Amino acid sequence: MSGAMQPPLSFKPLLVRISGIQMKLLVVGSGGREHALAWKLAQSPRVQIVYVAPGNGGTAQDERLRNVDITDPAELAAFVEKEHVAFTLVGPEGPLAAGIVNLFRSRGLKIFGPSREAAQLESSKDFAKAFMKRHNIPTAEYETFSDTAAAHAYIDAKGAPIVVKADGLAAGKGVVVAMTAEEAHAAVDSMLADNKLGDAGARVVIEEFLAGEEASFIVMVDGKHVLALASSQDHKRLLDADRGPNTGGMGAYSPAPIVTPQLHARVMREIIQPTVRGMESEGIRFTGFLYAGLMIDANGNPKTLEFNCRMGDPETQPIMARLKGDFSKVVEMAIDGKLDSVELDWDRRTALGVVLAAHNYPDTPRRGDRITGIPAETENSVTFHAGTTLADGKLTTSGGRVLCVVGLADSVRGAQSVVYDTVNQISFDGMQYRRDIGYRAVNRKHSADKH
Ligand code: AMP
Ligand code: GLY
Repeated sequence: MSGAMQPPLSFKPLLVRISGIQMKLLVVGSGGREHALAWKLAQSPRVQIVYVAPGNGGTAQDERLRNVDITDPAELAAFVEKEHVAFTLVGPEGPLAAGIVNLFRSRGLKIFGPSREAAQLESSKDFAKAFMKRHNIPTAEYETFSDTAAAHAYIDAKGAPIVVKADGLAAGKGVVVAMTAEEAHAAVDSMLADNKLGDAGARVVIEEFLAGEEASFIVMVDGKHVLALASSQDHKRLLDADRGPNTGGMGAYSPAPIVTPQLHARVMREIIQPTVRGMESEGIRFTGFLYAGLMIDANGNPKTLEFNCRMGDPETQPIMARLKGDFSKVVEMAIDGKLDSVELDWDRRTALGVVLAAHNYPDTPRRGDRITGIPAETENSVTFHAGTTLADGKLTTSGGRVLCVVGLADSVRGAQSVVYDTVNQISFDGMQYRRDIGYRAVNRKHSADKH
C-alpha cells in the first residue's frame, strides 16, 4: 500500500556499491614513512579508512587512520580478509624479505611490494652485487667473503679507503666506510670472526670506496612498467656538515637538483631498466618500490651504492608531501600491472623534511620523553610521526627517530625556514636534529647563480 509503511530507504550502501568508493586499505609498518604513505592514501575520496599495522602515536591521532596491533603476516592476511581490505602497501624491508607478498598473493589478496625472491636485491648485498655484475649495471668493484683470512688479505691488497658490508639485513648497522685499513680489518673481525651481526654478517661484501654526492632514485615497478617518483636526497650522518655516525636518515628533501633531466634519463637507461629487465630474465618479476641509492661522481657519472626494495625513510615524507592526485589509484594501477597508463603530478615547490631524534640516537635511544607543541597541519607544513606512542592522550617518545617535520616552499631556503619555524615549537627532552638539511641544494643553487 502506501510507501509510508515501508522501512526508510538508505541510498548510501547502494551508492557505495555502484561507485566503488569507501575502500579500506592497509599500510604495514610503524615509521614516518608509513605515516606519510597512510596520510596520502587517506586523502582519496574513495578511501574510508587506512589501517596501519602497528602504526605509531601520530597514526593513532588521525581520525582517517586506525592502528591495528598485528605484525604477524598470517594474522594480517586474516585481518585483511575479515575487513575486506582492498589492498595492502608494505613500508619496511623486514616483512618483504620474510615473504609477506608471497603469502598474501597465495591467498588471493592484493598487495604492492616485491616477493621474497625479488626482495633479495636488498636482503642480500652479495645477490645484488652479483646481479649488477651479470647485467653490467654500474656499481663499485667488489668481492664477497666468508673466510676471515681471505677478507683480510683482500683489504691488504686493495688498501684504504675501502667499504665493508654485511651481506644480510642489519638495520643500518651493516656498512663500514673505512678510511683506514685498520678500521676495515676491525669490521671484518667484528662481522666474520666475532659474529657481531649474527647471520647477516656471516658473509661480507668488500667494495671500492666511491667519492661523490648521493641521491635517492625511487621508482614504482609493476613487473614490467616503471614509473619514477620525484628525486630526493637523504642526510645519513647524525651531525651537521655530514659528521658523526651513520643513521637511518636525519632529513631529506625533494626534488634533488643534482638529478638533472639528463641524469634522470641516464639512471633509467643504465640502472633501473636493466634491473627490471634483468630480474625478469632471471625468472623473478620485480613488483614494488625500487630504490637505487646512487653515488654521483664529480663528472656526473652515477653508480649504484645499493638497492632497497621499498621506499626510503625519510625520503617518503617530502615525496608524499609533493605528490598531487589520488595515490590510492596509482597503487591500484601498479598492483594491476597498468603503470604505463599513470602520470604523476608533483607540487612544484620543494619539500624538506627534518628528523627530530631521541636522546642518544642512534646508539640506544631513550624512550618515554613527553612530546609537546606539535602544531596542526597547514597548507605548507605537516609533521609525520615515527617513534611516538599515544597513551592517555599524552604523546611520548618510543624510538630513535621520533618525528619528521616537513615544510614546502618555492625555494630550498624557504622550505628550510618553514620547517625550522615549526621545529622551534616542538619540544621533548634530549631532542636532536640537524640544522643544515638541504645544504647541498642551497650551495648548488649558489654556485649555479654565480656562473
Ligand atoms: P648502503 O646501506 O649500502 O647504502 O650504505 C650506507 C651508506 O654508506 C651509503 O649511504 C653511503 O653513504 C655509504 N657507502 C656505501 N657504499 C659506499 C661506497 N662504495 N663508497 C662510499 N660510500 C659508501
Ligand atoms: N633513507 C635511507 C633508507 O631508507 O634506506
